[in-house]
Amino acid sequence: MCGIVAYTGPRDAVPILTEGLARLEYRGYDSAGIAVVGRSEDLRVRKTEGRVAELTASLPARFKGSTGIGHTRWATHGEPSDENAHPHVAGGVAVVHNGIIENADELRAKLEADGVVLTSETDSEVLPHLIARSSAEELEDAVREALSQIVGTYGIAVVDTRHPGVLVVARNGSPVVIGIGEKEMFAASDVAALVRYTRQVVHLDDGELATLRADGFRTSTLDARATSKEPSVIETEEAAYDAEGYTHFMRKEIHEQPAAVERALRGRLDGRFHTAHLGGLDLDPREARAIRRVKILGCGSAYYAGQVGAQLIEELARIPADAEPASEFRYRNPVVEADTLYIAVSQSGETYDTLAAVQELRRKGGRVLGVVNAVGSAIGRECDGGVYLHAGPEIAVASTKAWTSTAVVFALLALHLGRIHDLSPADGRRIADGLRALPGQIEEILRQEDRIAALAGDLARYRSMLFVGRVRGWPVAREGAQKLKEVSYVHAEAYPASELKHGPLALVNPDLPTVAIVPDDELLDKNRSTLGEIRARQGRVVTIGHRGPGEDAIVVPKSEPELDAILLTIPLQLLAYHAAVALGHDVDKPRNLAKSVTVD
Ligand code: F6R
Repeated sequence: MCGIVAYTGPRDAVPILTEGLARLEYRGYDSAGIAVVGRSEDLRVRKTEGRVAELTASLPARFKGSTGIGHTRWATHGEPSDENAHPHVAGGVAVVHNGIIENADELRAKLEADGVVLTSETDSEVLPHLIARSSAEELEDAVREALSQIVGTYGIAVVDTRHPGVLVVARNGSPVVIGIGEKEMFAASDVAALVRYTRQVVHLDDGELATLRADGFRTSTLDARATSKEPSVIETEEAAYDAEGYTHFMRKEIHEQPAAVERALRGRLDGRFHTAHLGGLDLDPREARAIRRVKILGCGSAYYAGQVGAQLIEELARIPADAEPASEFRYRNPVVEADTLYIAVSQSGETYDTLAAVQELRRKGGRVLGVVNAVGSAIGRECDGGVYLHAGPEIAVASTKAWTSTAVVFALLALHLGRIHDLSPADGRRIADGLRALPGQIEEILRQEDRIAALAGDLARYRSMLFVGRVRGWPVAREGAQKLKEVSYVHAEAYPASELKHGPLALVNPDLPTVAIVPDDELLDKNRSTLGEIRARQGRVVTIGHRGPGEDAIVVPKSEPELDAILLTIPLQLLAYHAAVALGHDVDKPRNLAKSVTVD
């Protein structure tokens, strides 16, 4: 997804902008550009279709300036091209924009009727023209005037040669973070671009603007009311944003899971009452007992992790629970009930569909908790309370450690709610012990990587694969198919194993292998008979479960049955990763995908 970085201060902005853009590459993009206000108060702009490294290499030595903006673009309006790349310029004004301007056609037509020549096909290009046409004395007021004409979402950064040393940024639906330095200021769409320079940050809220000068910043609303913001400190080390010797971030993040799970559990298990404490929940036992239903919302992998969560809550707390794609929920005018606990799940905390679902719920008076990884993100701030994953930054587009940490946090929440309801101390202890064992058990699975890689290399020759699982194995199968599709582009379909004979069995043939999730639980016999049906039709079956041996069997350590989904998913991440590597794909930046989908 598009990225923004901006700087004003005593240093040359150019290396800071290009370095920041390189840090945002993981989000996915197709073109990049920067604009700086030079020493003689002239605007210098360079933009190109292609990589940040190409942009950096193309900059002449004299391309310098102490205030500037940079952008990585992921095409929405208009194909990837030099003209459509940001920044967009009008006179001395340059703008970078994330988001979508819905009334762009109308605004473009008005500008053109006034004789303005627009040079790109983008919605964003109207912004610098609207700002440049304003007669306001302050850049902030000119930006405010322009934004009052915009319908849609934006995160923007603006420079203007008439106001050297001034940066204006604004947010509505697309993240903007201000970084506070020593007599210098930064801004970006993601803290990843800032950590090298500062740890002190301020997150803008929707409908907020900020004017940044080297010596400080001020924030206000779109209708010019001053706001006051407390800086927060980025806890994550800069090294967490590096691949640290791994060939890909996805592999690094798969291997970080034992540590990520330990962090998710740290300080949250209570050995005395065999329960869990989740500080941010803000739910006293009486309120917890009054919950009649739990509804979990998220998109993509976050939704599948939510499905694991719903099963855990129903099993351990005996509260009816289900998960639904936030992207669907927000559009279907849902019935919102006072005694339902709504939980929004998001790694990035910025997914627009999930944020919109949270806002719709809050508007209707629903109580929403967040299960979020990115601290300070929009969803985290919008919710009534919640739990952070503490998984550390997830850079690879395909989610791995955040998925696992989400499932672990749901197990903690289910344990907490269960012990308030009817889960016995003995069962509470059993689940808590099971959770404590997870990091070591994940290590055990990771030690099988070479075998899984060999199997993945072999499976990569098929054009399509089926993933099946029953009840606890069903969200695991969905997540496994999702991972494979995303990074290897092998077509993968997930089905509940119980549904096979109601349709998809017709697909089974020697060219369609099935990956089956077969834990050693009360459904093992049922699963075995499904696998028999597949094998009887010459379908190859790869099993992920607790029993081997066999070339096509991956065996994971036994956990408590309720926690099985967590361990059973890890081999599927490795399978997808190594299939993608075997096929020679850019694993960390799969085609057509972005790390966080901050547009509608
Ligand atoms: C899959 C993946 C996506 C995200 C989804 C939600 O590997 O990464 O399906 O899970 O776009 O993203 P977040 O969790 O940031 O809301």
